[in-house]
Amino acid sequence: MFRNKLINDYITAGFERETAISELDFVCDVVFNLTPVDILLNKNIPENFEEELKKIITKRITTKRPVQQIVGRAYFMNKVYKVSEDVLIPRPETELLVLKAEEIIKKHKVKNFLDIGTGTGCIAISLLELCPDLKAQAVDISGKALEIARQNSDEHRVSERLTLKKSDLFSEAEGKFDLIISNPPYIPIKDKPSLQSEVRDFEPETALFTNDEEGIEVYKKIIAQAPNYLNNGGYLMFEIGYNQSELLRELFEVQKNYSDFELIKDLSENDRVVFARLG
Ligand SMILES: C[S@@+](CC[C@H](N)C(=O)[O-])C[C@H]1O[C@@H](n2cnc3c(N)ncnc32)[C@H](O)[C@@H]1O
Repeated sequence: MFRNKLINDYITAGFERETAISELDFVCDVVFNLTPVDILLNKNIPENFEEELKKIITKRITTKRPVQQIVGRAYFMNKVYKVSEDVLIPRPETELLVLKAEEIIKKHKVKNFLDIGTGTGCIAISLLELCPDLKAQAVDISGKALEIARQNSDEHRVSERLTLKKSDLFSEAEGKFDLIISNPPYIPIKDKPSLQSEVRDFEPETALFTNDEEGIEVYKKIIAQAPNYLNNGGYLMFEIGYNQSELLRELFEVQKNYSDFELIKDLSENDRVVFARLG
């Protein structure tokens, strides 16, 4: 069967069987709008399906480029986002940040927030979809990333509640917020050689790397400047690398303006999200 042949192509090229299956299902969904059941029942299959799918999978396994960049789409929070080589592909770990932010927004009646380093816009857009009365500003230093975020905000129909700005951290941010959220670059550039090649060779450097030894320089700047942009009692929250929680705790403590520091672990028991309150 055609599907089994493609799975074997993946395995021969050195990929895991699970990767092959999940990527095939992903491509069939986002490119051809087909479920695994459609394929099994030979239902709704478009013309040239096998030929087109084979082309995509061959490109994937020969170049090792992430499949999301090849098809220009990625999943986040069970929805589909446009991606390109100019943005970080949204990661499942970041969904934990969004879910915790949703909890804080609902509990503390947050009215607006700022997303720093928005990339695809996945964090801001998901929160706006989850909370219909909420408004947001989202900034990124990359104009190309902002163009992708703009397209995603249109596709997800939240553009009326989202202002997008090209900004170096807070440089162009306007007003005060009840919540500031960010998944900034946090990998020290010295770790670049040890990264998985799919990330290292294909995803944008501005989205991944910092120039300091510990990967905390962007957090440090945001923590120092956020009090000027947060309403009193407002929250600052981040996604972090698995080994950065104690460094983040120290950064928040040094600033003195914050209280109620909290840390949340992901499903693999790695520290993943931190937040604190101004005041
Ligand atoms: C790790 S990616 C996160 C993208 C997206 N928020 C997500 O969670 O998938 C970090 C983003 O921060 C942006 N960035 C890096 N330095 C920045 C700066 N100084 N000011 C604003 N954005 C910055 C990058 O362009 C990139 O889009």
